[in-house]
Amino acid sequence: MGVIGVGWVGLVTAVCFAELGRQVVARDIVAEKVEALAGGETTIHEPGLGEMLRRNLERITFTTDMDLLLERARLLFVCVDTPPTYSGDADLSRVRAVVDDLPDDGGHVLVMKSTVPAGTGHSIRRDMPDLPYVSCPEFLKEGSAVADFMHPDRVVIGADPGDEEAADAVEALYRPLGGEVIRTDVASAEMIKLASNAFLATKISFINEIANVCEEVGADVGEVANGMGLDQRIGPSFLRAGIGYGGSCFPKDVSALKMLAGNSGYHFQLLNAVIEVNELQKRRVVSKLVRHLGPLAGRRIALLGLAFKPDTDDMREASSLVLAARLQGEGAEVVAYDPVAGERAGELLSSVTMADSALEALRGADAAVLVTEWGEFAALDWAEAAARMARPLIVDGRNFLDPAALRAAGFAYEGIGKQQATATAATAE
Ligand code: UDX
Repeated sequence: MGVIGVGWVGLVTAVCFAELGRQVVARDIVAEKVEALAGGETTIHEPGLGEMLRRNLERITFTTDMDLLLERARLLFVCVDTPPTYSGDADLSRVRAVVDDLPDDGGHVLVMKSTVPAGTGHSIRRDMPDLPYVSCPEFLKEGSAVADFMHPDRVVIGADPGDEEAADAVEALYRPLGGEVIRTDVASAEMIKLASNAFLATKISFINEIANVCEEVGADVGEVANGMGLDQRIGPSFLRAGIGYGGSCFPKDVSALKMLAGNSGYHFQLLNAVIEVNELQKRRVVSKLVRHLGPLAGRRIALLGLAFKPDTDDMREASSLVLAARLQGEGAEVVAYDPVAGERAGELLSSVTMADSALEALRGADAAVLVTEWGEFAALDWAEAAARMARPLIVDGRNFLDPAALRAAGFAYEGIGKQQATATAATAE
């Protein structure tokens, strides 16, 4: 089998299929990346991936050579990215560039893993009548992508009449993994992917709005989510309130679905609200800080964690980017620490001071904001942290820390959707 585009999805797909005993040819246009991977060096931070790559190196051929891939592989998994365009639609230029390189000779099967708007498969199939087409969307979470691949909830395989044999071949590859296999048509497979991500994003924005109401009425969103999640129709996952979702998928896919609907003549009202709530949620941190500190001009604010979620160095659409810019817009001095994404973040946040440790970031700070729930923050010596700060105030943007322990360490603790701490007299300074 072949993988085209060895980014995050492509690399996980290639390495995991090799782990299942398949011979894989993985092709990318970036020569340095291909070279590093061929030497057993992963290009992304994904738990378990490096060891799995090195264990299976002899089964994977990394190459920049499309002809080599076409010669050795029949099933071609297209895994190039589809970033948002200025209009919010998915940018299909990379997908198109790959498809243009494929022979329409009946000898290969195009398996689309890239997230594409519903209708893309039909249009490619129209242009390439002799290239069987299978839609096989990915549902991998960064940080647990290897485990998600190896233990899928479900595998979605979309094929239209005439392409059943191609779909059977893809199904055979996934069968050893166990999860339920859904066989459907191409447009429905494409929609399953977009609708799944949009629904999860909706759950997050919903619980974030509930959190905001909890703050008004003195309820605790953790208790509320727990009580809701036990209803099997609702389920407990993706009900963690916080400062909003980020990453390479949710923002892009929600917008792409909204645009897809709009371009087809349907106004998807709910998704507008999901997006707006997510935008505003990141900014609520600022008002929490102002309540304690007054105007933020000249205040030193420490951001703990920058990646869009823990166990990844991915900064795409990270809430930290908006938050840092907003705080600086208020005149605050921003210092930040992330255990893994620091370097990548430093390039994006050039006016933010990057610290080498959490305690260093907190030195002299007027407040800390926990942005990403990295495990090491739970284990931090918070009494020591309080002693180093100018003012022991923390906004826990992920409801990750133990409020009682933080209070015992001397902190004024603010979570999301929890009873608010009494504002200190700081504003009088
Ligand atoms: C997501 C989908 O889960 C995956 O199926 C898809 O294929 C790719 O997009 P990913 O972006 O890696 O995966 O991260 P995910 O764990 O889903 O989290 C996305 C964002 O939502 C993160 O910023 C996270 O912090 C936030 N989140 C998640 C919440 O704020 N609350 C929650 O309850 C869950």
